[in-house]
This record gives sequence, C-alpha cells and structure tokens, in this order.
Amino acid sequence: MSTLITNIAELMTQDAEHRVLNDAAVVIEGERISWIGPAADAPAADDAVDAGGRALLPGWVDSHTHLIFAGDRTAEFEARMAGESYSAGGIAVTTGATRSTSDFDLTRLALGRVAEAVSQGTTYLETKTGYGLDLENETRSARIASTVADEVTYLGAHLVPAGADADEYTDLVCGPMLAAVRPYVGWADVFCEQGAFNEGQSRRVLQACKEAGLGLRVHGNQLGEGPGVQLAVEFGAASVDHVNYLSAADIDALASSWAGWQASGPRGTVATCLPACDLSTRQPLAPGRELLDAGVPIALASNCNPGTSYTSSMAFCVTTAVLQMRLSVHEAVRAATYGGALALRREVGNDVDGERAVGSVAVGHRADLHLLNAPSATHLAYRPGIPLTHAVWRAGVRAR
Ligand code: NIG
Repeated sequence: MSTLITNIAELMTQDAEHRVLNDAAVVIEGERISWIGPAADAPAADDAVDAGGRALLPGWVDSHTHLIFAGDRTAEFEARMAGESYSAGGIAVTTGATRSTSDFDLTRLALGRVAEAVSQGTTYLETKTGYGLDLENETRSARIASTVADEVTYLGAHLVPAGADADEYTDLVCGPMLAAVRPYVGWADVFCEQGAFNEGQSRRVLQACKEAGLGLRVHGNQLGEGPGVQLAVEFGAASVDHVNYLSAADIDALASSWAGWQASGPRGTVATCLPACDLSTRQPLAPGRELLDAGVPIALASNCNPGTSYTSSMAFCVTTAVLQMRLSVHEAVRAATYGGALALRREVGNDVDGERAVGSVAVGHRADLHLLNAPSATHLAYRPGIPLTHAVWRAGVRAR
C-alpha cells in the first residue's frame, strides 16, 4: 500500500543535507518513505493526500520522558511558583503514588500520555523507570515501559529511597535490580546531582550498566555545575540531559566528543536541552546557542514528568528554543527531530534488527511525518501556543 502526500508548501527534511523543499511531495510505502521530490514529478500511488499547501516535518523524536508514574505534584508546582526552589526530594512523592498503583492503571496512564504526545506530532519516544526505586517496582516499571515506548531507559539511580543507605542502594542498582530490569531496557541513566547520586556512585552505576551491554545517558548539571557532563563523555554516553550549568571545560569536553565525526562514524555525546523543565523549575535555560556554536549537537525533549515538566508538547519546546534560546526555527526543529534521534542513536537504521532511521525525511527512513496546519515551520514560533498539528503518520500509519 502506497500513499502520495502532495501539495506540500514546505518540506523540512532535516536530512543529511538539511534540505528544505518547496512545492514538494512524499510517497509512503508500508512503514517507510519511498520517494521525495518536487510535486510535479511525483509518481502515482495507491492513495493520495492533499496537504493543502501546509508544511511537512519529520515527527518529533522525544528522547527524554518519565511516563511511568501515578499521581501529580500540583502543590509542589504551586510552591515553586511562589518562590520555593526545586529539589530532587519531590521524586519520593511520585514514588509513593507509583508503588501503590496497579500494573493495569500504570499502563493505562502511560498509554494516555503516549497518545497525548502522538496527537501533537511525536512519533518516536523514549521513557524511563525511576519512580519505583526498589527491585519489584523498578522491574514492573521497566516491563510496563517496554509495552508503551519505543526506547526504554533504566533509571533505578534516580533518587536514594527514604531510609536507604546511598552506597547500599547503589549496590542494589548495579546488581540484582539491573539483572531484573535488563530484559526490558536498552539504556541506563543516572541522576548525577547533589541530593541524588554523587560522582563515585554515578561512576559505579555507569560502569555496571555498560558492562551489562546497555547504552548510557546521564541526567547532569541540572541544578548546579558538577561532574555529570564529564562522566557522560568519559563513558561514551549517547546523551547528557539538562545541561543547565556548564563550565567552559564541559562545553569543550562535549565538543571534543564529536571531533572528526562523520554521519556514519562513532557518535559523541549529545547535549539534551529540556526547556519546559527549565521554565517550570525556574532554572536558567540550557545554553543551546552556545552548545551549537561550539559544535555540539543538541536535542530538545519534553522531559514529561509530574515533578519538573508536566508536558509532552515538543512544539512548546521548539517555540521556547526559538524565542528564548536564540535557535533558528530550522535548528530548533532539527534538535527536536534529528537531534533526538541522534541522542537515541536511531538517526541511522539498525541493520542488526532491521529498524529504520527516524528523525528525518529521507528515502528508506521510517515514515514518521508531521503535517502542520501552517504553510511553514516558522509558524511554530510565530504563533506560540497555537496547536498546529494537522496530521501525523507513525511508521507509515496515520496516527491523527
Ligand atoms: O528530569 N532530574 C531528575 N529527574 C526528573 C525530575 C523528576 C521529578 O522531580 O519527579 C527530571 O527533571
């Protein structure tokens, strides 16, 4: 079954050449893109969709979410808006609510959040454990996550649970808990921050998870400068996320990790910026402009979670990146599509298991597409807050 999408006013491919085509068409064949080019040259297909002079983008790739939770933290948010500062301790509130919620309800809640994201143009999505914080609850979080998300990250090292000794809990995270979650996860993460896990504990988590064959990511430099970025680069992590407080040496380390990078070569560490979280916690916005200028690829992600960023709106992140972080529209859309794919190492196909590349519109890539109700992607920033998603295809299937 093939579908021709024609009459596309602007096709922002976010491909290797950063091409933007006008008066374009795309053909979807099954789950993949089989043709792109000028509308006048488009081949025939089984079905046709008139884009009506709208803009077509890759679907958003949300590379950082925490969707396996119950409860909300409205009171904490209100206190923050009244002047209190964010601390990692709030995670314990969500852990209590999550532990006392059934598998069925946790799954239902997570699926609802995924559906909300997809309806806004997200077509590829990572999520994490991290609100279970004991062997049983981290394992069921990982199992549930593996049924709702495209990529799953083990974040047993999110917070030391109340009453536990930090080093003993780290032993659990690196030993029996890791073994129990391993069948369900492809990634591991650690919240390397004052109030969460210190450098030594973070190093142990990263080493154990690396030895278990997991890809690595790090929550780092969110609440202050610290060792998170340097550890991420040292361990070859695919991303370091938050990156609000960076020293010149941190930016240099990230840039060096990409020195000599070719599209098909080994990747460095992506800096993932989470602007909705930064606004909701009243932290300085991550220095996305400076990172790009230094040659560091960045991703934009929603960080959807009940504590610091209760939104799945990637459009909001893109808008904020343009209006507040001084990215161009093209740069912001790239960070929210190709950048997310790079942070998940899915910007190229995976021949081992036959998975297709995501995050850009190119022949052979997964047909993950986002049609805006606007003639150009510029409207995402020009019309802030307006819901602009007109249609979504996820792996070739119309999802909205
Ligand atoms: O990415 N920083 C750590 N983890 C989450 C927040 C978790 C929470 O407060 O519930 C984040 O912002």
